[in-house]
This record gives sequence, C-alpha cells and structure tokens, in this order.
Amino acid sequence: MAMLFRPLLLAGSALALAPMAQAQTALPPVAPAPVQQFGRVSFDNRSLMIDGQRVPIWAAEFHPYRLPSPDLWRDVLQKIKASGFNTVTFYFDWSYHSPKQGELDFTGIRDMERAITMAGEEGLYVITRVGPYVNAELSRGGFPGWLNNQKARARTDDPDYLKAADEWLAAIDAIVARHQINGAKGGPVILHQIENELSQTSPVHRRYMDHLYAVTRSHGITVPIFHNDQGRNGQWVPDGSPVAGVVPGVVLGPVDMYAFDGYPGGTCTMDGKVSRGNGAPDWGFYGTGGARGGATASPATPGFLAEIGGGWFDYWGSNGIYACNAQQTGAGYGRLFYGTNLANGISLQSIYMGYGGTSWGWLPAPVVFTSYDYGAAIAEDRSLREKALALKPIGGTLAALPEIAAMVPAQKLVPSSDAIRLYHNRSPEKDTRFILATHQAGHWTQDTSFTFAADLPDGHYQFPPIRLNGYDAKWIVAGANLAGHRLVYTTSQIQTAQTNRLLLIGRNGEAGRTVLRFASRPLVKAPAGVTVTWGAARGDLLLDYTHGPLATVEISGGGKPALTLLLGDDAAGAACWQADGILVCGPAMLRHAVKQGGTLALSGDTIAPSPLRVWAKVGRVTWNGAAVPMRTVAGGALEAVAPLAGPAPIDLPVLANWRMAEGTPEALSAFDDHTWQRIDHRADASQSQKPAGQPTLTMDPYGFHEGDVWYRARFKGDASAQRLSLTYGAGGAGMVQVFLDGRLIGQQDLPAAMPRPITTGNLTLAMPDAARAAGEHVLSVMVRNNGHNWDLTAMDEHKEGRGLIAASLEPLAGPSFAVPLDWRIQGRAGGEDFADRTRGTPNNGGQYGERMGWHLPGFDDRNWRATGAALPQGAAGTNWYRTNVKLNVPKGQDATLALAFGDTAKPRSAAQYRVLMFVNGWNMGQFIAHVGPQRIFPIPEGILNHRGTNTIALAVTSDGNPANAPEAVRLITLQNRRGGVEVAQVSAPATLPASN
Ligand code: GAL
Repeated sequence: MAMLFRPLLLAGSALALAPMAQAQTALPPVAPAPVQQFGRVSFDNRSLMIDGQRVPIWAAEFHPYRLPSPDLWRDVLQKIKASGFNTVTFYFDWSYHSPKQGELDFTGIRDMERAITMAGEEGLYVITRVGPYVNAELSRGGFPGWLNNQKARARTDDPDYLKAADEWLAAIDAIVARHQINGAKGGPVILHQIENELSQTSPVHRRYMDHLYAVTRSHGITVPIFHNDQGRNGQWVPDGSPVAGVVPGVVLGPVDMYAFDGYPGGTCTMDGKVSRGNGAPDWGFYGTGGARGGATASPATPGFLAEIGGGWFDYWGSNGIYACNAQQTGAGYGRLFYGTNLANGISLQSIYMGYGGTSWGWLPAPVVFTSYDYGAAIAEDRSLREKALALKPIGGTLAALPEIAAMVPAQKLVPSSDAIRLYHNRSPEKDTRFILATHQAGHWTQDTSFTFAADLPDGHYQFPPIRLNGYDAKWIVAGANLAGHRLVYTTSQIQTAQTNRLLLIGRNGEAGRTVLRFASRPLVKAPAGVTVTWGAARGDLLLDYTHGPLATVEISGGGKPALTLLLGDDAAGAACWQADGILVCGPAMLRHAVKQGGTLALSGDTIAPSPLRVWAKVGRVTWNGAAVPMRTVAGGALEAVAPLAGPAPIDLPVLANWRMAEGTPEALSAFDDHTWQRIDHRADASQSQKPAGQPTLTMDPYGFHEGDVWYRARFKGDASAQRLSLTYGAGGAGMVQVFLDGRLIGQQDLPAAMPRPITTGNLTLAMPDAARAAGEHVLSVMVRNNGHNWDLTAMDEHKEGRGLIAASLEPLAGPSFAVPLDWRIQGRAGGEDFADRTRGTPNNGGQYGERMGWHLPGFDDRNWRATGAALPQGAAGTNWYRTNVKLNVPKGQDATLALAFGDTAKPRSAAQYRVLMFVNGWNMGQFIAHVGPQRIFPIPEGILNHRGTNTIALAVTSDGNPANAPEAVRLITLQNRRGGVEVAQVSAPATLPASN
C-alpha cells in the first residue's frame, strides 16, 4: 500500500510553486555502474539485461488466486501480452496455500507452477513476489490464519516466525526456482522479490531480511533479488551501494536491486468525477534526487518501479469508483505517467494491477470488498478496457527500441510554450532520442500547440506545431534505426515496428509528421490526406498527415528496402494487434498467429462482425480454426472478403424455483452445541487485549480464521442481567447479531464508508426482562469477520482480535462481568482441519448452512420450502435460498456472467441485509445491500458451468424485518465474445460430511 496521498500533495503543491523549467533540468549525471551478473540476467544502473541484451521491463501485475479458474489464467496472460507487456508480475498468497501449520497445498486452483508455466508459454517474462508478507489487500496481507496464534512478532528475526516463514518459502521458492530463466530448461522467471514494503528497519528487521535473502539463495533462486520500498523511503537499497556521502539517509539491505512503488495521479471524487490536479512526478533523472527521490536512492541499480498505479482499490460503503478509476488512470494518464517514469530512467515498471480480478470468499482485507477490479486495464470481467488498447503503443515503442530503456538525459530543449515541458534523453550507444512532451504543472488540462527545435543525430530540426490536448503526453522518437529504415523523427507514436512495416498512431484529428532518411528520392504511394515532401538537401522524406482511419503509405526505392507505413488514430491502433511477429487489424483481439506451411492460423476474439486484415505472405488464413477467404489489398496485406462473425447473443434464464430454509438454529436455547469447543483461558497472540481474568473469546486461538463465528453462552437468570456489553472484531463492514433464547435482541454493523474502516466495535444492549427470569438462558452471538487487517506497518496489525473480544453481562450500576457466562464457540466446520481442501482456505466460515453443506451443489434441498421466483423474508438471522439454473452459452464463445442484486444503478439499497453467494459450492463474494457499493458479482467460467446445470445458494442475513427482505437476484451478461480459451469446469466435491 503505497502512499496514495503523500506524493499527490508533493506533486500538487511543490511543483505548483515552482512550475517552470526545473522539471526538465536533469540532476548531475550518475557515474556508470559496473554490470552485475546473475546467470542470464544482469544489470547496470541503466537497465536490466537478458543474455547481455538490454530489455525494458514493461510488466502487468496479476494474482492467479483472484481468478479461481486456472484455464482462464491463460486468457488473462494472453491479454497482458496482447496489450503490449513483456512481463507479468505475480504475488503469491501464503494463506491461500496453508490451511494449517505444516500443510501447504499447490493443487488445483492453487497450482502456481501452472501459472508460471503458462506465462512462459505465452511469451512473458515473470517477476515473482513471494512475501512471506505481500499486503495486496488480502486478509492478513497474505499471512495464514494460523500465524495469528504465534506470539512471535511477524516480519522480524524471531525464530518461531522464521521457522513458519521458511516452511512457505521452501515450498514456493522450489516452484519458482524450477522456472527461472537460469534453470536447465530456461523458464520465464527473471526477478524475485522478498518481503514487501518492510518499512521497519531496526536490527531485528535487518536480520530478518538477511535471513530471507540467505534462505532464498539456499532454495536455489539465482536471479536478482529485490524488495519493494513503500513509496520512496530509500529503504533496502543493496548493500555495498556507493551511497556514502552521495545519497544520505538510505537504508542498506541484503538485496541485489532496489525497487519502490508509487500511486500518483490522484483519485476520482466521491461523485465519480476524475480529478486532474496532479501531474506526473519525476522519480529519477529530473527529480529532487536523494534517498526519497525514487530511483535516485540507488545509484548502482536501474530505476525500478515494482508497482506503479494502474488503478486503485475500492472500499465498503463508497459510491463505487472502479469505472471512474479506469478513466482516472486511463489512456492519457498512461502515456503521461509511465512516459515520465521512462524519461526519468525508470526502465523497469510494473503496472499494479494489470488484471485485478475477484477477492472471492474470505480473501479480502477489511479495506476492500469482493471486487478487485481496480479500474485496471483488463476489467474484472476480463474485457479489455480502452486503456489497455492505449497501452499497446507503449509496449510497441519499447519493443521497437529496447535502447529506450537505457537512456541518459540529453541536451535541454526549449518549447515555444511555457505550458509545455520537454524531456530529452539519448542512448549513449546508439544516440537514439526519446523526447517526451507533457504539460507543466498547473496546465494539465490545457489544450496547447507548441514547437521546438532540436539538434538530432540526423541534423538540426525545427519541429512542426504539435498539439498536446490535456492530460496526455507525446512520445517522440528521433534518430532511430527501425524497420530497416532510418527514422529522423516522428511526432506520431510507434505502435508496431516489423521488418519493412511501421504502424504509427496519434490522437484523432491531430497532425503528425514522420521524417525518413534516404540516399535518393524514393517512390511514394500515399493516399489523399498524406502530404509528401522531398528534401533533397538532406535526403529527407517528409510525410505530413492527420491521424484518422488507417492509411497505408507504400515507399520503395531510395536505396532502402520497401516500407509499408501505416498511419492511424487511436481507434485504428486499438484494432491492430501483433502476435508471434504478425500484424493483424480488425478483430477485438489477436491471441496467436501460427504459420504452418502456407497456412497462417490466427486465433482471437470478435465482439461484433469484424474486418480482418493481415500482413503476411501466405496462401491460406484460418481464424479460430475456420478458413477465411482473403483477397490482396494495398501494402501487401490480405483482407477477409467477408467480415468475421461476432458472437451470438446469450439467452439467460430467469432465476426461479427457489427453495428456502431457516439457517440460525444456534439462536435457539435447545440447540445442541455439545460438540462445540468450550471457551477457556488459553494463550492468545491477539493484539486486542482482553480484560484481566476474562476468558479468551477471540476466534483464532480456536482454529477459526475466516468468515463467520458463533458463540453460545449459558447463564442463570438474575436481576443483575441488565446490560450486555460486547467488544468484537469484525473487519470492514463486519457485523454482530445477538440472540437471547432464540430471539434477536440486537445487531450492529461496523461503520463503513471510510477507505480505512474501523475494524472493531462495541455493542451495548439493554437486556430484555426475559434475561432476569429465573432459570437457564442462552445468549447466541454471531460475528461476521470481514477479514483480518493487513500488517502494513509491520507492527502485527493482522493480529487484531476477530470474533468476540470481551463480553460483560452486568447490572447498570454494578461491576462489569457480574453475571458468569459459560461460553462455547463454533466456526468453520473442522477448524484448521476443514474438509473442503479443494475450494480451500478462503471458501467457508462458520454459518450453520456452511457446516451442513447447504452451499454445495449435491445437497438435497427437496424438503425446503419452494418459493418460486420470490425470495421471501425469513426469520431474524440467516436464511438460505437455493436454486438450480441451466446455462447454454454458445460453444466457442467467451462470456462473463454475473449475479446482480436489486437495482444495479444505485450503490446501495434501503433494505438492510447481506448475502454470501455460493455458486456450485464456491463462495463468490458478499453483497451488503445497505453498505454497497458492489451489486454485480462476476462468476468466472469454470466455477459457473456455461453449458450445464449450476447450483446457486444464497445465505441472507438480516433482522427479519419484512422491509429488509432480499431484493431480486438475476444473472446478467457482462461481456460476450466469440473466441476465448477452452475452459474446463473446476472439479470440486458436490457434497461433504455435515458437522454441527
Ligand atoms: C502497495 C502494496 C500492494 C498493494 C498496493 C495497493 O503499496 O505493495 O501490496 O497493497 O499498495 O493496492
């Protein structure tokens, strides 16, 4: 969790005071640093190198555990690749794999080896981030539940903690080690992260880091090791770094590379509007320098943003910001911020998130709800957002000119407008130039026309007027050898460069100029709208044009091989894809292009009938296996005679035939709880101190770590039983319900609507007269635990108590804890030895229906009450509703279907209730009607059977008031495409033994 707000203030205030000229003035040059070699991977202080070749690392983060349908991992990876990235970054969630100390599970949905292998197969490098602590908006920041019972302070060198962490590291590192680029078979893993944002740097933390580094190496990890510094603190810069006297304030540590993170650029306002008050910070060459300057903290290693904001997460009770976030960090933001990073020498950047996915079950930390869409380039429903399409040219530029990763500041350029700043870098080896034009602070949303002059490798040039409209940047390249040609400069952006083929794009309606150098005047075939000028003096061919629909310019002669120059606007570029070295324009996505003999087998997606144009010399073209009749068109391209078909619409059945059962027998005095654990005074590692002498009530010491937990206390009716005072821990928007002898006597939601919610609460209830009647009474308490805290500060925050912390039944004026309460506790059936190892740790808590297997598809609900299409209100507590639904999504189509609750146009309902939704036994999230904002829950194929019968089970918790009855639930289609990948149903048990 990086400092979301701090850099914004800096960018907004400091730069606003000193707006001019400063930014593009570079810091004094840094001395070249020696190359450090880690097998096939090496680096100096300008870039990473693989096999000695400089490679810009352009990565997108993806968490396989947030998509519990492994076949779909391939879809996401292909989309990351198709969006122009060359690397995927994986966090791993220790908790996901470890239900119990000593047990680690990497099967099925937890098969991380498969995720890494797939990434390699799809042509991506992999950065692995194994923790032990990851944060990532996960419950306990990725620590397993059982670790909450460990007294040892986490993230220190306490031997108990180290022993626990080593168990995990030995297992996950062994998997990573097998897939390193340095391995015998040469896998995709190039970099490896230990720990995450460890901002405590005392000796116990230093020794912890030493330990992590040593065990990681002992586990066979040979690629460079790094840590991700929280924001820019200068913490954990490699030992031996030449910082003495140069960069005061840096904390050295046992890492090979320094990396940091940042989420600049501001947020959407509460009324869902983008804010544009913040510009892109200079975290390198052009910045303030020093330990807190970003890349400047580490003079011997290349600039490395292990996370750079590609969206942000949303919280319980907000108005729903993901769609707006996607705009906030949209196309212009990407060009501006990622471009500024690059200009600052940050040659490794990983976008967090590339695909956010779903924090299904009990994965989420209190700060987030089920959807982890993040406003990312690839939406939660796996569709490519407009900004993903706009990222393609960034990847395209980096792929075309890898030297861009290793540039240094060049001569300062002066724009004709004070509203503009120009960054100018050059490759020391090739002299290629990268000129980034952005607005100056305070001018971010201005529409500006400017020019400038520059001494370029091919001579002195006066640039034509260039328009920069608002929150955007222009990526200008000059002096480059590209596509077999000499590019003097272009004011368009390079999207794709192939031998003798160049695709250049720009904003619709804006002018562009491309200048190419020839020995003699070439022959140019250009459509109307492209002005061709020959400058004989220098041998320059000037092409002037306006960016619009794709235009083909054919150039031949002039002492160079033939060149097809494709010019287009953003929309034209968005429709063009490169895979396996083949350029295709028209469809919604290209996955692969495999040439076999004279056939080019293309695979990809359409979302509507689409044209298909491909630049390849082949006799036959197939699209998703079917032959496509083609004809030859300009520029050596083949074009489909008829459009490719789009998807057929999907017919979704109405959810009807519901059956219903009451699911709160624990509230009844007669309920048999003799198998439940007795509450005792056992040792507790919780950070929530209990009152002295009182029993240990928190759930973790009893082996219950996720979801709901029940407590039942017997007490003797007594005049003192006047007031009940409960202290409880329930995470973000968690809740408590209290019953006396079967009757709901009170409930409370933890307040939501804060990005950092309050996670514990107090409920004080006046006890009804019944409590004072003679005889035995039963108090039943249900606590919904919406996640344990993360441990962002490394102060054991994750050990805040969950469930009840203290309970006092007392007279109004008398001592607390006056009436003795004899407690028992029950959570998830089996505790840490729960039966459903397939669906794993996040799936279940301790609702009665869960313990009975009511959520599972094989449960026989024939005795339940049939309610038709209605979801009638039931008794106070939790009521269960089940139905079966048969789906028939056309074969060969990739759709994302979702469960939608009530009026999806509103962030929350007037009715107060919450729902745990189970699809074929999988807990796919929580809807809290009156808290919101999420009311649409995507269910991935593989969990949902798209061509078969599905069981949906809803556990609805409310006070039983008819006004708080559940609203209508329906299935909706979020995205539908023809194409996609083959998805097998994730196999999981249909029934499990019931347990009280
Ligand atoms: C980072 C942290 C990530 C995640 C992110 C916010 O600072 O390293 O784990 O929490 O913030 O989404």
